[in-house]
Order: sequence, then structure tokens, then C-alpha cells
Amino acid sequence: MDEKLQSINLQKVPNHIAIIMDGNGRWAKSKGMQRVFGHKNALTAIRAAADTSSELGVKFLTLYAFSTENWNRPKFEVDALMTLLVKTLKKELPEFQNKNVKVNAIGAIEQLPKKAQKTLTEVIEATKNNTKITLTFALSYGAREEIVNAIKNISKKVVNNKLDIEKIDEKIINNHLYTFNLPDVDFMIRTSGEQRISNFLLWQMAYAELYFTDVLWPDFRKEHLFDAIIDYQNRERRFGKTSEQIETDE
Ligand code: IPE
Ligand code: IPE
Ligand code: MG
Repeated sequence: MDEKLQSINLQKVPNHIAIIMDGNGRWAKSKGMQRVFGHKNALTAIRAAADTSSELGVKFLTLYAFSTENWNRPKFEVDALMTLLVKTLKKELPEFQNKNVKVNAIGAIEQLPKKAQKTLTEVIEATKNNTKITLTFALSYGAREEIVNAIKNISKKVVNNKLDIEKIDEKIINNHLYTFNLPDVDFMIRTSGEQRISNFLLWQMAYAELYFTDVLWPDFRKEHLFDAIIDYQNRERRFGKTSEQIETDE
């Protein structure tokens, strides 16, 4: 483990990591248990990802916890996930404070059950002055819905003469997304072997490096994040330039 840590260049850790935490159901099934058992065992992995990111100096960690499409799951599972969300946020609040974690949420939060909204608002408010890392939970989140909302809100401003159509640029669009206060994603990790984006942060991941691992989310630990970051650091992010240009830029 120490060897892995030593392979990481602390000057070059991704500023913003986004994780699609996938595979809870399969993890539970492999143990002969119900899917919800997998969700309950996701917390250890969430802690490992958040603590390790924070220790390495990652400033933003965004976790895909519930998608707009996940509302289509059986009611029993949706209810269990919402209950778990409330429980987890309450339980972790003292740790967020100890560890100087600022909690944030993106998604159609108004669609969550009232109790979940209330707890979420309380935790966000209580941690708003924390500075070590911003931990964002994507809840009832869908990137397409996010973009539709942004277009609606921008259009309203244009119709009401609050915004000149010629002024619409990437920055204005960015400012109308749920992620208005977050930087672009540098590194996206998805667990469980699936290699797709599943409607996550489409705009914000335009130039992110993508990493897929077969590890199921409840098994995800510090060493897996180390492996992912080592892989990230062996890549060359060219942003359309040539390799030679990147070398002289450095
Ligand atoms: C990810 O695990 C958690 C959520 C989507 C809420 P899954 O529940 O999707 O687990 P699999 O993919 O069915 O194994
Ligand atoms: C994506 O996982 C959403 C979350 C991890 C919260 P899913 O398991 O819902 O995605 P698909 O349906 O396999 O693409
Ligand atoms: Mg899944």
C-alpha cells in the first residue's frame, strides 16, 4: 500500500473526481443476499473514497448515488435507498465536521422525500464553511434533465430581456447547471465493470479521463483509488494539442 502511495505524484492529483458507484446489487447477490444489503454496505466504500481523496489533496469528489432513471426501480428498493440516505447523512455529520468536509448536492433535490430534503439541507448548511474537500452527492440526478433545466432558465432570461442572446456562452451555460459552483471533472471512475456514463455529468465530463474497474462498489477501498490515480497520472491530457506542445508547456 505504501508503495502505491509513493507512486502517486501529490502535485498532480486530479482536482475533481467523479465516481459512478455501481455494483451494489451484484455484490449482495454474490453473497446470496437481497440487493438492499449491497446498498447498506456501500458506506465503507464511500468513506474510503472520501478519506483517501481528502488525504491526497483532491478538492472535489462527486458521487453518483441516485439517478433520475433509478426512480424506475421497485418501490421497496427506492424507499430503502431514501431511508439509507437520511440515516447515513445523520450518522456521518460529526465525521464531516471533524474532517472539514463540505457537503453539497446536485440533482432534482425537490423530488426527494421531504425528510431526505430536510436532512440534506441541514447537513449542507452545517458544513458550508468547511474547506478541505467538497463532497457532492448526485441525487435524483440526470445530466439531460440538468441541461433541459438550464436551457429553460436561460430562455426565460432572454424572453424577459435580462440576457442578450449573443452573450450566451459556455460560462453562462455552466452557471445554469446544478454544478455551477464546481469545476469540470478531471477523472471519472466507474466500478462494477460497466463501461457507460448512464446520464452522469455529460457537460462537465467533456474532457475527463475515464477509468473503469471490475471491483464492485461495496468492495472499493483506498488501494483501488490509488490504482485509479496512478493510471490517471500515466496519461497525457492533451486537450486537442500535440504531445510536443504539452511537453514544452510543462
Ligand atoms: C449502484 O448499485 C447503486 C445505485 C444505482 C443506487 P446497483 O444497485 O446499480 O447495483 P447493480 O448494478 O445492480 O449490481
Ligand atoms: C448508475 O448506475 C447510477 C448510480 C450509480 C447511482 P445504474 O446501475 O443505475 O446504471 P445502469 O442502469 O446500469 O446504466
Ligand atoms: Mg447498477
